[in-house]
Amino acid sequence: MKKPRLLDLFCCSGGAGEGYFRAGFDVVGVDIVERERYPHLFVKADALEILRNVDYVRTFDAVHASPPCQAACALTKGTNQHLAPNYDDLYDETKELMEAAGVPGVIENPSARPDVVLCGEMFGLGVLRHRNIELVGWTTDFKFKRDHRKHRGRVRGLRHGVWYDGPYVAAYGNGGGKATVPEMQRAMGITWTDVREELTEAIPPAYTEWIGERLMAHVMGDEMREAA
Ligand SMILES: C[S@@+](CC[C@H](N)C(=O)[O-])C[C@H]1O[C@@H](n2cnc3c(N)ncnc32)[C@H](O)[C@@H]1O
Repeated sequence: MKKPRLLDLFCCSGGAGEGYFRAGFDVVGVDIVERERYPHLFVKADALEILRNVDYVRTFDAVHASPPCQAACALTKGTNQHLAPNYDDLYDETKELMEAAGVPGVIENPSARPDVVLCGEMFGLGVLRHRNIELVGWTTDFKFKRDHRKHRGRVRGLRHGVWYDGPYVAAYGNGGGKATVPEMQRAMGITWTDVREELTEAIPPAYTEWIGERLMAHVMGDEMREAA
């Protein structure tokens, strides 16, 4: 039987894409930058241009999008707020185009509606990395209070002149006890890239394996209904 296909938009080096692959999808990644370490089929293109080609998008069973988050993420809040306007916020347009295509989808972005919020502790990882996951055209059962796990401690590093130790590493930025490349690889379960920028952008594959298993059940349910 042919595997369902998933279009992985804004794919970077494929933290998200690898999780969907493990959940059983054939994955095609799209990024505007050449990502030679992407572990599946890769297309270098503008993700929004691809999304505007509705006929192409509808050849897939599902779509994931991680539009760049710098406009809204924690790193451009507080004292770094002045940096935010330097980045395009592509969330609104991505969502609009995905809804118009009508293919079941997932958007991961700080502005995304938090239908699901995943955390490294749910998967025994060495990062906390809370991520908002918005479901487009389908739903799954998730309750933060029930499914989120209490953190075992703090994120290691220097904050406002105070050093904290803890079981998690900070997989972003540089200095002040931030994770080294091997620490990030270990903490997130990503072995196929050693490029610092790609690791700092990545979603741990465990997150999208979890969401991918639920998305797969939805997609397979649709196929069964169509066949009946
Ligand atoms: C947050 S990262 C995605 C991380 C990825 N989901 C992962 O888990 O590894 C965002 C990516 O979007 C890419 N990007 C930015 N603008 C783009 C565009 N218009 N079309 C395609 N990719 C774009 C960047 O090069 C970057 O790799």
